[in-house]
Amino acid sequence: MSDLVTRVLRDDELRAANTLFRASLHVPPVKDEEWVTTHRGYQPERTLGVFDEALIGTAKSTDALLRVPGGADVPLAAVTGVGVRADRTRRGVLTSLMRAQFADFAERGIVAAALHASEGVIYGRFGYGVGTLMRSYKVRRLAARLRSDLPTSGEIELLDIDAALNRLPGSYAGLPLRPGMMSRPQHWWYAVERGLRASEEPVVTAVHHGPDGIDGFVVYRVVRTPGSDGTLKVDDLHYGTPEAFAGLWRFLLGVDLVDEIQVGYGPVTEPVELLFTDPRMCTVTEVEDDTWVRLVDVEAALLARERAAGPLVIEVDDPFLPHNAGRYLITPDEVSRTERDAQLRMGADTLAMAYLGAWLPSSLAATGRIRVSDPGAVAVADDLFGARSTPWCGTFF
Ligand SMILES: CC(C)(COP(=O)(O)OP(=O)(O)OC[C@H]1O[C@@H](n2cnc3c(N)ncnc32)[C@H](O)[C@@H]1OP(=O)(O)O)[C@@H](O)C(=O)NCCC(=O)NCCS
Repeated sequence: MSDLVTRVLRDDELRAANTLFRASLHVPPVKDEEWVTTHRGYQPERTLGVFDEALIGTAKSTDALLRVPGGADVPLAAVTGVGVRADRTRRGVLTSLMRAQFADFAERGIVAAALHASEGVIYGRFGYGVGTLMRSYKVRRLAARLRSDLPTSGEIELLDIDAALNRLPGSYAGLPLRPGMMSRPQHWWYAVERGLRASEEPVVTAVHHGPDGIDGFVVYRVVRTPGSDGTLKVDDLHYGTPEAFAGLWRFLLGVDLVDEIQVGYGPVTEPVELLFTDPRMCTVTEVEDDTWVRLVDVEAALLARERAAGPLVIEVDDPFLPHNAGRYLITPDEVSRTERDAQLRMGADTLAMAYLGAWLPSSLAATGRIRVSDPGAVAVADDLFGARSTPWCGTFF
């Protein structure tokens, strides 16, 4: 639509953008007293608005780093706050926001973007693909018994909200990251602060102290309904050692007046069930898409990740970011543009699905997402992109 104006919002326009975004998700505006903390979660110059006579669409992003297979980090734009006014949907407003964001990301050297999608049909057309997966599970707290051979060292300490906000950023930064995880910039912690302070149930933070300081933490709430014991809902759980993993679960199983522990956002390949004498104490309730990832700079992204197989020639289609389109020769030593015949062809969304290791190229080929000219290349691509563990983001934004 030619009469739409898309631009970076001024600071004094952010509250209207926040209200618009929340309305698009059918939730009320933040209260006046909550706006101060909400506002601090906005990175300056990273919120876009689309206008006709008024603000009708918005999207924002925060700069962070994305851990890729092999252990390198690449510049990431964490995209959120996407919403279009209900009377202006399906006329290109989101498309305009996506174009403006990608142009900005490319100019600033962002290698990948990621978001959590409200619906699965929205973002594929813009080159995003399901790049990490997550699972939800529940543990029968009263019946579960920990195995006797688990480590027992370390101490648990409870922190109040102020202490948690003070100490968790440094603790998280010191933990090992899986592929798909991201750094947590200060703006992310500001955004969390509002949720912690506004929660109806008390939010509890427990940290695990190992020999070198905090090596794990869990943030949770207990929800109780009259006449029954409560449900302990884990909001955030990270650890860097087997001692912290076992110690945090030992603590959670000891919280009184709780029937069930629910983890809504865990890694697919995290062996929680193996902590218990009976692995059936843990029931997986859902495995679903976590972040949708967009490779803004395909060549830089491929260069940054480990490449233990090859050579492989792939052709990437990318109508939305044409600088990515073309053929790439990938080997353990190099990634370069090539004129050689492509063995595999795929869209940018499909490459993003393979990039962190969430989906094997053979699965993507079996479902028609990868077009195969050389059948022998599929196994090479599986070796190249296959990851040791299923990628997970672990940070909700
Ligand atoms: C999702 C949302 C941002 C889409 O905005 P929009 O301005 O309507 O999107 P566009 O008009 O640019 O749509 C581009 C294309 O995607 C399709 N599309 C967009 N959202 C869609 C949806 N929710 N379901 C199905 N198709 C959708 C459009 O039909 C259009 O297809 P076309 O190019 O074949 O015509 C908007 O509907 C919204 O605000 N929804 C509620 C809040 C929300 O879900 N936000 C996203 C949080 S991650």
